[in-house]
Amino acid sequence: MATCWPEPIVSVQSLSQTGVPTVPNRYVKPAHQRPVFNTTQSDAEMEIPVLDMDDVWGKPEGLRLVRSACEEWGFFQMVNHGVNHSLMESVRGAWREFFELPLDEKRKYANSPDTYEGYGSRLGVVKDAKLDWSDYFFLNYLPSSIRSPSKWPSQPPKIRELIEEYGEEVKKLCERLTETLSESLGLEPNHLMKALGGEDKVGASLRTNYYPKCPQPHLTLGLSSHSDPGGITILLPDEKVAGLQVRRGDGWITVKSVPNALIVNIGDQIQILSNGIYKSVEHQVIVNSGMERVSLAFFYNPRSDIPIGPIEELVTENRPALYKPIRFDEYRSLIRQKGPCGKNQVDSLLLSR
Ligand code: OGA
Ligand code: NI
Repeated sequence: MATCWPEPIVSVQSLSQTGVPTVPNRYVKPAHQRPVFNTTQSDAEMEIPVLDMDDVWGKPEGLRLVRSACEEWGFFQMVNHGVNHSLMESVRGAWREFFELPLDEKRKYANSPDTYEGYGSRLGVVKDAKLDWSDYFFLNYLPSSIRSPSKWPSQPPKIRELIEEYGEEVKKLCERLTETLSESLGLEPNHLMKALGGEDKVGASLRTNYYPKCPQPHLTLGLSSHSDPGGITILLPDEKVAGLQVRRGDGWITVKSVPNALIVNIGDQIQILSNGIYKSVEHQVIVNSGMERVSLAFFYNPRSDIPIGPIEELVTENRPALYKPIRFDEYRSLIRQKGPCGKNQVDSLLLSR
């Protein structure tokens, strides 16, 4: 794995703050990748499912709702998810303050492509690649043995405790969701967790995304089209600014987030484990000229050193194994070299028949 970036890193936030009237060429996407803003009336009315988790946990009808959301959309919003609303607001606020610190302070945490931990502005190490209009902060959360406290920000003062407190709550939520996903696939409640490597061996990381204002939002993307490589992603979106778009057929649906909701999406590893029954759906982020946007993505991942392949019970004569097994550390390192590239990575594991 490369230990340094192929080109000097430019913080997109500082670039935005200089008030450039146009988007530099490095960020201008080819025409076919540029975002579509004008959705038709029927698209505008389409929404990813919103599930009230009080109607889901332990309820047979809830399992059916989860199943259809994961088969059809790969995404849903959760209300009554159990994570404290004021904690959500505080942790997002603390990260917003972090990004408002002077560049020199943030640069103390500058990351490199070997672990990605820290403050960064690009994904992938392909030289001359088109870049995304965002900065981010990435940190490892689970297993706790791989945490590097020196890479966690120390400012604003409460941020470390808030990350830890939020991380614990979201981790519990992911454990609960893993049981629900397992049952919704017709498996024993603990089956999926075992397949992920077990509660004390699973991985998790947190990426806080910062999307600065952009002078020409129609030419670029805050985050290029990708599917999430891991197991389950829990996204805490910005409370005011929309931006996440989810693939629907040939088009994109802009998510209108419900107040205090968390957004769940299925990652590539659950697509693989479920033998393609659950979909890891492509998504991307659009930016705008008026407001910056902050989001927190919590990635809940399988144990990294065991092969992950379709769960035996989900492989049948009518539905033979679709994917060849791969270890998550290997899978992730391929993604980290290339950066976001739609669904190419998971598709590369398809067994030809
Ligand atoms: C991600 C992601 C969406 C967003 O971090 O993988 O898809 O709204 N983020 O920031
Ligand atoms: Ni994503």
